[in-house]
Amino acid sequence: MIRINENYLKLQASYLFSDIAKQVEIFQTQNPEQQIIKLGIGDVTRALPPACVTAFHKAVDEMADDSTFRGYGPEQGYDFLREIIACKDFQDRGAKISADEIFISDGAKCDNGNIQEIFATDIKIAIPDPVYPVYLDTNVMAGRTGEYINGRYKGVVYLDSLKENGFIPELPLEPVDLIYLCFPNNPTGAMITKEQLKAWVDYARANKAIILYDAAYVSFIRDDSLPQSIYEIEGAKEVAIEFRSFSKTAGFTGTRCAYTVVPKNCRAYLANGHSHSLHSLWNRRHTTKFNGVSYPVQRAAEAVYSEAGQTQIKELSDYYLTNAKLIREKFSALGFYCIGGDNSPYIWVAGHGDSWEFFDLLLKKTGVVCTPGAGFGKCGEGYIRFSAFNSYENVKIAMERVSNSLTGQEA
Ligand code: MLT
Repeated sequence: MIRINENYLKLQASYLFSDIAKQVEIFQTQNPEQQIIKLGIGDVTRALPPACVTAFHKAVDEMADDSTFRGYGPEQGYDFLREIIACKDFQDRGAKISADEIFISDGAKCDNGNIQEIFATDIKIAIPDPVYPVYLDTNVMAGRTGEYINGRYKGVVYLDSLKENGFIPELPLEPVDLIYLCFPNNPTGAMITKEQLKAWVDYARANKAIILYDAAYVSFIRDDSLPQSIYEIEGAKEVAIEFRSFSKTAGFTGTRCAYTVVPKNCRAYLANGHSHSLHSLWNRRHTTKFNGVSYPVQRAAEAVYSEAGQTQIKELSDYYLTNAKLIREKFSALGFYCIGGDNSPYIWVAGHGDSWEFFDLLLKKTGVVCTPGAGFGKCGEGYIRFSAFNSYENVKIAMERVSNSLTGQEA
């Protein structure tokens, strides 16, 4: 008798964003005349930067000619991309990361979800609350979390991110092995300082733990004193794996390109206490299960680092940050407590009461889609998240509708 992986039955019924998409679709079918404005899932809306498009076209032309055609590329990514990433994203900021520590992939979501495979199933994981659901759900699937009781898995150490701690979780009181951190944070938009991040790196070193650092939203950081990479913190190379993505940086959500940094001296342990390289394990996994990102996409990603590409991606994130500012200003003016939106494309708004009810009210009364905070965890209850990824015009209309609706001035 073939049996299923019963850990899947411990998951919530469906993935948060699929659930919301379904609710929005039902509403749209019932109200075909309503123009819906989506500020829910963080999906970019603006075209690829021209520098990337040019490089993309050129590479497609190379694929169209026998003399320049390429078949399988290296699973870890082409050297031209790995080298420029190492130089521009890390070495230029004082972080000594080399090209062969970078693994190109088709998404930070996949890497964040897959990385747990290289760790034992009986380790203790620490996960922020609220959290990007992928970290938690993939550990549920792997059987690391135990049962779901009253909104929480009993085997997980939750790192509460609350208004009281500025949405930067405190160090765990009990020892943990694997720690998930995401900054700029999804969903709260909060950003960690170098001192605060150093405390986590020191904790990991002292406890022989590993930090999985998701920096997918790094291109939105505008305060230069803030860390762009965990490797800007001394000692982090021994205890941290970092995830980056071209999705939000350069509009690649539909194009797919990301990378993961696994430093060569980052090590975890065998049951007998001997240490083992995580780089070699991830390399083994990557080469076995992945055949590389397509050549044209990697050329398009490389163009992000050209002079024109750098100017264009800055314009792109500036555009979304202008939207974020408008959302935050509007909700603040309406008397709501908000954070995020300054070094992040997400704005975390404290609503009044149940976050799914607030989501529902906004959808039904204004046609504006947000994400209910409770979907990100227990500590997200009472909040809603707005994403700044849409056109400025749509964000303006959305905020006018919300404002009119909440102040009772509907037409
Ligand atoms: C989000 O809305 O949290 C993101 O779009 C999710 C993702 O990048 O997968």
